[in-house]
Amino acid sequence: MKKEIGAKNCLYPMPTVLVGAMVNGKPNYATIAHVGIADFNSVTISMNKKHYTNAGIRENKCFSINVPTEDMVKITDYCGIVSGKDEDKSLLFKTFYGKLGNAPMIEECPLCMECELIATVDFPNHDLFVGKVVGTYCDEHVMTDTNVNFLKLRPILFSMTDRSYYRLGDKLGKPWSIGKEFKKV
Ligand SMILES: Cc1cc2nc3c(=O)[nH]c(=O)nc-3n(C[C@H](O)[C@H](O)[C@H](O)COP(=O)(O)O)c2cc1C
Repeated sequence: MKKEIGAKNCLYPMPTVLVGAMVNGKPNYATIAHVGIADFNSVTISMNKKHYTNAGIRENKCFSINVPTEDMVKITDYCGIVSGKDEDKSLLFKTFYGKLGNAPMIEECPLCMECELIATVDFPNHDLFVGKVVGTYCDEHVMTDTNVNFLKLRPILFSMTDRSYYRLGDKLGKPWSIGKEFKKV
């Protein structure tokens, strides 16, 4: 029997990413787990207005999403503990740039996306930034043929429910396929 546990958002786990932006002329990176997909090539990141990174996204109208791997869990956590207001996070990683030129990306992350800011939804405490992915950069060792292989990538999953990091499990099956057996012929 189900128990009502209140009006809680329990939509976890979520992928943990490092959002990059230029702030006051330097790259800054913040750990963000409240990410989403708005459209095929448009993504969302929900960022508390107090964060240092937000001003850079608003000013430059772009940001990057960098996917760290399991072995980067400590440095990823660190970027979510300290603010660029208090500590310079620009030298924690090797930074590279893509076609936008001012969306700093992280060389150590095997998967990076540079995004053009296309909309901002102004919530009382959060900026919901909507970005269009304009360039995706992926290390060959996490690819199978021309696709990103998430089992090779080993992203970090985050749950607020029990404040823990998790890793990916096994593949369950093929979407738009394994359900077909319920079809009445
Ligand atoms: C695992 C993890 C996930 C986080 N997810 C979010 C998030 O989705 N949105 C948010 O506003 N802050 C999130 N944070 C907090 C920010 O990363 C943190 O406040 C950071 O210091 C902000 O950096 P900045 O001030 O340099 O921008 C998260 C922190 C951790 C450790």
